[in-house]
Amino acid sequence: MDKLVVTGGTPLNGEVVISGAKNAAVAILPATLLIDGVCTIENLPNISDVKVSCKILEAIGAKITWNSENCITIDTRNVCCTEAPLDLTRKFRASYYLIGALLGRCRSVTVGMPGGCKLGARPIDQHIKGFEALGATVTVGQGNITAKAECLNATSIYMDVVSVGATINVMLAAVLANGTTIIDNAAKEPHVVDVANFLNTMGADIRGAGTDVIKVNGVERLVGNATYCVVPDQIEAGTFMLAAVASKGDIIIKNCITKHLECITAKVLEIGANAEDLGGDRIHVWCDKRPSKANIKTLPYPGFPTDLQPQMGVVLSMADGTSIINESIWESRFQYTDELNKMGAKITAQGKTAFFEGVDHLSGAPVYSSDLRAGAALIIAGICADGVTEIYNLEHIDRGYEHIEEKFRRLGANIVRVTED
Ligand code: EPU
Repeated sequence: MDKLVVTGGTPLNGEVVISGAKNAAVAILPATLLIDGVCTIENLPNISDVKVSCKILEAIGAKITWNSENCITIDTRNVCCTEAPLDLTRKFRASYYLIGALLGRCRSVTVGMPGGCKLGARPIDQHIKGFEALGATVTVGQGNITAKAECLNATSIYMDVVSVGATINVMLAAVLANGTTIIDNAAKEPHVVDVANFLNTMGADIRGAGTDVIKVNGVERLVGNATYCVVPDQIEAGTFMLAAVASKGDIIIKNCITKHLECITAKVLEIGANAEDLGGDRIHVWCDKRPSKANIKTLPYPGFPTDLQPQMGVVLSMADGTSIINESIWESRFQYTDELNKMGAKITAQGKTAFFEGVDHLSGAPVYSSDLRAGAALIIAGICADGVTEIYNLEHIDRGYEHIEEKFRRLGANIVRVTED
């Protein structure tokens, strides 16, 4: 079992380069199943969710060549298997994208019920509603989900909730359908736009991604024969911005799209820290005083992202005054607050609301990461705390952050990975 050992007290300083977006990559990889040809994907983050996605694609007949740690060429011409390995697909959330992609390609698919971080109920009713509207029959049972269709016919679908996964999944199923599918109340996250851009580069005809109405004009085939570069990770960039603020450090974040970071920049400025867009995909974030309190409500893009809520929670746990966070996306995303309280924070979480009474310092302690973003938050807390913090359950962190301890080490953090028997 690995753990991270963080000796705190050093403000972060220097430059960090952001990797490709996890939540775009885990959708683009299954999207390659819609291509009747070969494509190359650059800027893939080297994380375990990407490796599992590649294993699943290989298991169903795709041929993958690793050109470098972050670039693959994938040939999906021989894919004909419609049952994705059930054990692997149950391991992570984004396996639900295999449903839209294989339904589009083969009109039939079975996958294990998607797993992933335990953030409370994670229904997929909106995905199923979309597939059924396109003409599929969907059955759920024995831990699996199966979808079949004679043919897929375009239609209009109004999403009852704004869902990243359902928006992308219905887009995937509609790319090769007959006619124009309209997805209304669609999610607008940068990774939704990135998947649409990838599919269009390969020959699809998707309009409006990034707004709340997406039109997918069905095409006969996606020929591929193109190279696509995954968008920089908005959440990784935000994680380092908040790490700079929490540690009272000074960081230049490179290879990020500053437009995607506006809601985070606004909060950084509101609490009295500094952020400056340097142009050329770089943002400079620094903090030279104790941040002030703030209230946050997580919302779909362009609101404050739930995936940065725990990292912001660390900042507010040491802010001047009492802050309130309202988590409106996931019902169990305050598990990390128990761990921060072990480090001396004063946080009271009640349902979807948490009250952060700012303390002037945190102290190192053994802590357990309950999910991916909780893990990132605990690293930031460890960097700020007096003494030594040991962070366990690293499998969550490794799912979504590329070379995380190396990146923090280069910024001056004292952080090592230790393997225990
Ligand atoms: N929802 C439904 N029905 C559905 C789908 C969603 O009620 O059919 C609800 C959910 O319960 C939730 C809300 O809608 O309350 C939003 O869920 P969404 O579908 O947008 O989430 P997701 O697609 O399962 C993705 C990211 C999450 C991120 C959320 C919100 C991936 C693989 N996962 O999940 O990322 O928190 O969007 O932005 O893209 C993470 O990276 O740490 C992570 C958890």
